[in-house]
Amino acid sequence: MAIASRKIGYDEVEHRDLSFGMSPETVPRHWFNNDPWITHCMNAILAAVPDGERWVMQAMSKQLDNLHDPSVRKAAINFIRQERTHAREHDAMNAAMVAHGIPMDRVEAVFKAVRKTLQRHLGDVTQCAMAATFEHFTAVISQVMLDHPELWDDTSPEVSAMLYWHFVEETEHKSVSFDVFQEVSGGGVRAYAIRMATLVLGTAVFMPVVNGNWLYFLWKDRQLTNIPSALRAVKTLFFAPGIFRRAFLIDVLPFLSPRFHPWDADNRDVIHAWKRAYEKTGDTQQAYQAFRQWHAEFGSGAPAEREVAA
Ligand SMILES: [Fe+2]
Ligand SMILES: [Fe+2]
Repeated sequence: MAIASRKIGYDEVEHRDLSFGMSPETVPRHWFNNDPWITHCMNAILAAVPDGERWVMQAMSKQLDNLHDPSVRKAAINFIRQERTHAREHDAMNAAMVAHGIPMDRVEAVFKAVRKTLQRHLGDVTQCAMAATFEHFTAVISQVMLDHPELWDDTSPEVSAMLYWHFVEETEHKSVSFDVFQEVSGGGVRAYAIRMATLVLGTAVFMPVVNGNWLYFLWKDRQLTNIPSALRAVKTLFFAPGIFRRAFLIDVLPFLSPRFHPWDADNRDVIHAWKRAYEKTGDTQQAYQAFRQWHAEFGSGAPAEREVAA
């Protein structure tokens, strides 16, 4: 079976037009566990999110008429709708940080300039590969966060509810841009070469910018010398649970394989407790609590038990 024809999860992709009312009141200055270093690390990533999501939406929209597989096309349309809503809600969250004095807007302007330059120079199919690469990164970060909800114990319910909604939807649509790219590129060696080139380009351009912005936010917030917070961030990011270490192991390494497909890591069971609770209540905070309860009871169980319990 060609990897482009794998259809795991297409029926999971569902657009929910939710508004979380993100504001300086609901998004504290140090919103991630009241801890400055890890918060600003996430801010450095989130500064790229709204514009990045609009870029992947544009890349997918351009390809809709070239998709011959109706299930891929339908999933791509729902993917675009989901990303549009994510971008809107993250705009509001980033604006809340600006109101706290964290210059997310300046950093976003830099990302916009980089994105426009890349859009001018890259062809439509290569931009699709770039979208698949970014979407893999967001799916992996989502997977790590879904596997470690204890990281969010001291985070406000509004922020946790919003971000877990996003983690669930990133998981739902994690194969869509990859399959669109496979279909429009024709797959094979050429597609693999383009995908690897976008991985190198994306890493080379965005990693230094994200790290620079992390330090910039810490400096603006007068937290650069907050050593206890820095040590906690190093522990969380690289050791326990090691967000970046885990992301590297489940992100970069499998992505290097020519046979890679996002659903090789089938983690649908992890999002089902959230989805069922949301369907029942229409409330993202209750869905987040239901997910936490499921995770506490079944998170470390065997996949079959986990799915039955979800
Ligand atoms: Fe998203
Ligand atoms: Fe996404």
